[in-house]
Amino acid sequence: MPETGPETGPEKAKVAIFISGSGTNMAALLDASRLDGCPYEIVLIASNNPQAAGLALARAEGITTFALSHKGMTRAEHDAAMEGAAHAAGAQYIALAGYMRILSDGFVTRWQGRMLNIHPSLLPRYKGLDTHARAIAAGDSHGGATVHLVTPELDSGLILDQVEVAVLPDDTPEALAERVKLAEHQLYPRALAAYVSRAGG
Ligand code: GRF
Repeated sequence: MPETGPETGPEKAKVAIFISGSGTNMAALLDASRLDGCPYEIVLIASNNPQAAGLALARAEGITTFALSHKGMTRAEHDAAMEGAAHAAGAQYIALAGYMRILSDGFVTRWQGRMLNIHPSLLPRYKGLDTHARAIAAGDSHGGATVHLVTPELDSGLILDQVEVAVLPDDTPEALAERVKLAEHQLYPRALAAYVSRAGG
């Protein structure tokens, strides 16, 4: 720990991360936020799945968490609760990281330009699910991942950054997914840092 006084650097962008599952991209974003010079800080981890493994990790790291199952709620009610948690935490940006719920158009529109997602394909190829199996079946030389802005149309917002990962002979969707995840963990922190630092942002 530096022995100097409180940090005097520029104000960091406040980011809430939404997850549904293991949260490995969340962990990558959080770890990167703790490196010197990172222009963002994580103020909230929120999930629709109270069992999401990433929540326990976030708590252990001292990050505020919010967990609310969507079961028995309308989409509008659940979205409002998630959005309320983001506002309460002072979030300026939302990073979706394996958040497996479609957000309502109103939510997306209110956060347009301030909400990012990571998708496990080289968009615009393979929007939606089963991206790795589809890349292998098509005989693609590379799969990969994309960080993009979230718009009401699924996986279609402005592409901010991409990384390619070679498909191996006899690859399986699971093996390719694992290698793409390693690449995602490097891509997402870099893309988020670049985005919050953009001119005029
Ligand atoms: C990642 O493959 C991401 O591209 C997709 O969902 C997965 C989340 O994985 N949107 P994790 O929870 O970050 O491990």
